[in-house]
Amino acid sequence: MYQVPKRKVFRTGLSLLVLGAMLTACSQQAGVINDSEVVVAPAGEGPARAPRGMVASATEISSRVGDEILRAGGNAVDAAIATGFALAVTYPQAGNIGGGGFMVIRFPDGTATTFDFREKAPLAAHPEMFLDEKGNYSSEIHHNSHIAVGVPGTVAGFEQAHKKYGSLPWEQLVEPAVRLAEEGFPMMPYLARSLKGVLPRMEKYPASIAAFSKDGVPYEEGELFRQPDLGRTLARIRDEGRDGFYKGETARLIVEEMERHGGLITYEDLEKYEAVEREPVRGTYRGYDIIGMPPPSSGGVAVIQMLNILEGYDLKAMGHNSPEYLHHLAEAMRLAFRDRARHIADPDFEDVPVAKLIDKDYAAELRSQIDPNRATPSRVEDVSLAHESMETTHYSVVDKDGMAVAVTYTLEASYGMKAVVDGAGFLLNNEMGDFNGKPGLTNERGLIGTQPNLARPEKRMLSSMSPTILAKDGKLVAVIGTPGGRTIINTVLQLALNIIDFDMSIQRAVNAKRIHHQWFPDRISMEAGSDSVAAEALRSMGHTVNLVGTTQGRAHSIMIDPETGVRIGAPDPRDADAGAVGH
Ligand code: DON
Repeated sequence: MYQVPKRKVFRTGLSLLVLGAMLTACSQQAGVINDSEVVVAPAGEGPARAPRGMVASATEISSRVGDEILRAGGNAVDAAIATGFALAVTYPQAGNIGGGGFMVIRFPDGTATTFDFREKAPLAAHPEMFLDEKGNYSSEIHHNSHIAVGVPGTVAGFEQAHKKYGSLPWEQLVEPAVRLAEEGFPMMPYLARSLKGVLPRMEKYPASIAAFSKDGVPYEEGELFRQPDLGRTLARIRDEGRDGFYKGETARLIVEEMERHGGLITYEDLEKYEAVEREPVRGTYRGYDIIGMPPPSSGGVAVIQMLNILEGYDLKAMGHNSPEYLHHLAEAMRLAFRDRARHIADPDFEDVPVAKLIDKDYAAELRSQIDPNRATPSRVEDVSLAHESMETTHYSVVDKDGMAVAVTYTLEASYGMKAVVDGAGFLLNNEMGDFNGKPGLTNERGLIGTQPNLARPEKRMLSSMSPTILAKDGKLVAVIGTPGGRTIINTVLQLALNIIDFDMSIQRAVNAKRIHHQWFPDRISMEAGSDSVAAEALRSMGHTVNLVGTTQGRAHSIMIDPETGVRIGAPDPRDADAGAVGH
């Protein structure tokens, strides 16, 4: 029988408060698996190995919630929904009900689908909406006002995915989050630090200060952290499904919040919001199948495009993270980001040439433009790209039957707009900042004004989120993804290369240092701790290289051991409260 490594079984007291009640609820279900078989790997102590199910997410508590659902007989979609709601309570930086995102699902028979629950622009949106009264572009309006709030999609997306593919009752999936919010959980170390940092930036919003501090005094690690308003909102969602969010009391609280602060979202916007089930974008790379998120995410297309370009090189012979390797990666990134800026936007509004962008012959044409020894400067007519912040979250789920789910969802910035909806306890996104700021305005500071991604009523803003599933010969290989704005695309690329070209274990693939190039600004960013000798060599090839002080991505991922089928969950050590939990 599979032996559970002892040190990894129910490590902390975190479970006591919250999971006791949930365990009771779950243990009434058929097919319950004994607690002693639960395997937990906190960030820095991964991977977790377990034979049946696995959840890897930004908080160990949320991964435990997802695993509980799997153990109660739920499938990977059920567990993904429960994990997502639990993250909305335990990872307010990015876990959300006030934001949106994407879910990629691969079924055991190899078919796949996706759910697009990206936020939409309100009906009152228009391309000039981020300009001040003098007609000048305003970053404040674009990123830091109630006008920056897109119509949230998460609750609708989860409900739609559940209706079609879930197996346990909806209430059972939301209940753990309700309990976590109502009864509270011990403040975690990283969340405590993060909240201390953000509180000063929430001062404009008393409801935010009330939700995330003790009357302005930050929580200390280990203190009980309760969110009663959020608990009530989640209870409405538990009892009424999407109507508990888009109608009734929650809708009233959102609309009143908008009216108080000059926001645009109305009852009609909320009622009209629909998630969309879309065909995944698919590619192949050295015999592996790549299943990614289609537009309005640029992620799947760009990852496949870069893999197509790189397939023409012997990357393994170049050596992992060697200057030669990083040079070729950077050049492929430059080309894919150029096409991203030119072409990719909401497919319900724009014609996006997906088939061409992921075509192998087109990739060969692009490859021929790469000089193997020298950087090819991004040209002046290239448009520069807007800054994106570093908070989103990705999680991965695999169940006992091999159903796999990859979810990346976000509030855009860390804690989104920093504004909690008064009385409803959840944070609003500032996703409208992912639309281009002003028609035609393209500048060195990082704005683009190209047409396809301008704001229009009910349009979805362009995203980089790239929840991705890898398979080979009809078998699931890995579930990967990450936050990180535009770096997402490049982090996912490097995860895939680490797995496929360099045969790395999933934890090594996740831990390895990563680089980023986004065509413009024309430079390579290497994350904290990267090899400065490689940086120097890249400079001598004509690249501008920034050794940045920050890390790139938080890629909580899962891989299947091809021999044994064991699920290997790798929490990214860059996310200190993260954990992989399986059984
Ligand atoms: O959808 C997008 O691409 C961005 N709003 C994601 C932002 C993000 O990843 C920030 N994260 N860490």
